[in-house]
Amino acid sequence: MQFSTKIFSQADINSPKQLKASLLALLAYPSDCLVLAYTKADVDALRGSKAKSGVLAELDRILGGSVTHANLVGDLDTQQASVCSLRAEKSWAAAGVKTKRVLLACLGDVNFAEARSLNAFSKIARSALKHLSGGSIQNAVWFIPSFALGHRAEFIAEEVRLTIQYAGDQAYRFGVRQPAMKFKAKDKADAFNHLIFAGNDACAKELKAAVAEGVAMVEGMNLAKDLGNLPPNICTPTYLGKAAQGLSKKTALKVEVMGRKQIEALGMGSFLSVAQGSNTPPQFIVMRHQGGKVGEAPIVLVGKGITFDTGGISLKPGEAMDEMKYDMCGAASVIGTMYATALMKLKKNVIGVVPTCENMPSGNATRPGDIVKSMSGQTIEILNTDAEGRLILCDALTYVERFKPKAVIDVATLTGACVIALGHVHSGLFSDDEALVGALTKAGHASLDTVWRLPLDAAYHEQLKSNFADVANIGGRPAGSVTAACFLSRFTEKYKWAHLDIAGTAWKSGAAKGATGRPVPLLVNYLLEQK
Ligand code: BES
Ligand code: MN
Ligand code: ZN
Repeated sequence: MQFSTKIFSQADINSPKQLKASLLALLAYPSDCLVLAYTKADVDALRGSKAKSGVLAELDRILGGSVTHANLVGDLDTQQASVCSLRAEKSWAAAGVKTKRVLLACLGDVNFAEARSLNAFSKIARSALKHLSGGSIQNAVWFIPSFALGHRAEFIAEEVRLTIQYAGDQAYRFGVRQPAMKFKAKDKADAFNHLIFAGNDACAKELKAAVAEGVAMVEGMNLAKDLGNLPPNICTPTYLGKAAQGLSKKTALKVEVMGRKQIEALGMGSFLSVAQGSNTPPQFIVMRHQGGKVGEAPIVLVGKGITFDTGGISLKPGEAMDEMKYDMCGAASVIGTMYATALMKLKKNVIGVVPTCENMPSGNATRPGDIVKSMSGQTIEILNTDAEGRLILCDALTYVERFKPKAVIDVATLTGACVIALGHVHSGLFSDDEALVGALTKAGHASLDTVWRLPLDAAYHEQLKSNFADVANIGGRPAGSVTAACFLSRFTEKYKWAHLDIAGTAWKSGAAKGATGRPVPLLVNYLLEQK
């Protein structure tokens, strides 16, 4: 999928005087489809008996009655997110129209403030994009609706990034992106492969910057999805390390991958206890993006990289166990976000850290009841070997103290309980830092990759008491996601920290089974907003 910008110097359909000239310029551009937004008021104006004004009426005059015709046959709806497709007719050529189609997308009965809401916008973007795919349309010019409504620059950026995010998401095909592997010979790319953002002189700079950011974000999401969807016999800890290292050849990222010996030398007894049941060696990946000043405190992202979670000796039931290949989606989202960050050449220091291994049962596997020593010095009684994510993360969270981070965000498919609590809509957010909570919540709204805050109160720590070690690795069934987060919090006292539980949002089950690329959009938006 390709994204580009095209500046139509005077295009400004906000100004009634310029409306006709703007539309003529847009229509004269030879594309497969021009996408325009309209509101209920535009339809009322078209249907009314008075002198007709507004986008639809003006368009109708240029196109020789095509819009009126669509209205007469009942194709023009005033419902938000409905679309109406007009195909080129003979009469269009006389007016100098070169686009083959016009797709009208309805913002609904909106006043100016509502039209500014990203939510209304996201709905029309989704339905318009759906309409563009799956047919013979290859490219489309997109002129909705910021420029039309004279939105502030910041909103233009959010809208453009969101549109690219949706279009990239829609275009993703696992089989097409992994041709060498030939997992699925018949996957075909969608014909729709080029989205052109039309803007005017007033917004040209913001538009170009936002398109570059959106493209980087999609690259990061695609990578996160690929890594998530790859089968666990291929996407091993070694593979993840190589994938990260590969990025250092394409970008300015500096990548270091440590093996078992180095992990032992660091004293990561908790991490190693999870890895010890597997024949495939653990890896500890550190990716650095130096976009800010030397010495400037970095933002650190930590991702859970269990490439397959059988549960270990506390073996999981067989049903849908294949989905535990997705237990490295936290890691994939961190690697994807680091890639996007590097592509954007973000002017900040960002470090991505990934502890990765497999959780397998074997003669050498950790037993329930084993006590291990974490890098922090705290001992952990492992009461359930299936609560392994926190065991690899706690050592990574201790490791990152050395960076004197501005903030640390860990991302993990940590608990089934989070899926019960929040379903597949929001990722769980845990943090005691109000500023971090605010920033992540805002970034979630801007990317519609949303989070919902859950508690971290001291009272829940009671559940993690062990009779034999400093802490137990499980806290029983009540509030399972909260006690998991509380466990992690014991290793994060030296910096500002937030934890994202993405167990319900990182992938989809059922017929549309596949990685979602979340929370790459959230993290990229968060990083972009950090001053
Ligand atoms: N990776 C799982 C969490 C998970 C399960 C995510 C299902 C998405 C869907 C994690 O390692 C795990 O097994 N957690 C246990 C913790 C329990 C033993 C305290 C869980 O959620 O059941
Ligand atoms: Mn587990
Ligand atoms: Zn797990």
